[in-house]
Amino acid sequence: MKILAINGSPHTTRSTTRKLAGFVLEGAAEAGAETEIIDLCDFRVTPCTACDACSLNGICVNDDDVPSIIERMKDADGIAFASPVYIDNVSGQMKIFFDRLADTIHYQLLAGKYGCAVATTHTSGGENVVAYQNHVLNYLGVISVGGISVATYGSIEAVDAAEVSARVLGKKLVDAIRNGFSDPIQDEEIAGNREFFKDIVIENRDFRTEEYERWVRMGWIG
Ligand SMILES: Cc1cc2nc3c(=O)[nH]c(=O)nc-3n(C[C@H](O)[C@H](O)[C@H](O)COP(=O)(O)O)c2cc1C
Repeated sequence: MKILAINGSPHTTRSTTRKLAGFVLEGAAEAGAETEIIDLCDFRVTPCTACDACSLNGICVNDDDVPSIIERMKDADGIAFASPVYIDNVSGQMKIFFDRLADTIHYQLLAGKYGCAVATTHTSGGENVVAYQNHVLNYLGVISVGGISVATYGSIEAVDAAEVSARVLGKKLVDAIRNGFSDPIQDEEIAGNREFFKDIVIENRDFRTEEYERWVRMGWIG
């Protein structure tokens, strides 16, 4: 079982968010998962230009590292999004990455996986950024088991104080992958999104035939 954490902080190894996500992964590893964390700023992530080319064949016109990150997400059973709060939202690095997931979202390429969200902030916005990242997980068809946010007020000790809760979240993610986890509110949101994306899949069936057939097999197109 593999769990991948994606850190949107440019602080890389000095990142407070990375440290908190690390505790989540340690909890997951204790419960038996193989874990990995990547820092988005180590990768070439080009902003989406809304050219819509990816809807033709799933391939972005930008030759960068996003496809390899998406492959790593496909290869994982669990995905943790981790971002610092920047002006009340995820970091720009994280948002640029999220925008590049449009095709992955439309075709529900990660559906059925489980995830969680991590955020750190100086003072405020942590809960909202956790909620937003969980919302993106739901867009991807990934069910979230929850999230953790820490307001540090400038002191890294605040993250250490959250270690136990972060480890519990990691264990919960492993348990969901192993035994399943359902949440009627998320199930409804994911089903509603899928109903909406279905029209895109049907419209593009002549050139995204494999995806169309997968949707039929999954029972998402009746
Ligand atoms: C550009 C920028 C914007 C920020 N915006 C906020 C904010 O809106 N609210 C807040 O409480 N902290 C804000 N912070 C502080 C960070 O959220 C906080 O230091 C965070 O823990 C950094 O995590 P990192 O070390 O993983 O990058 C901001 C920091 C930066 C650099």
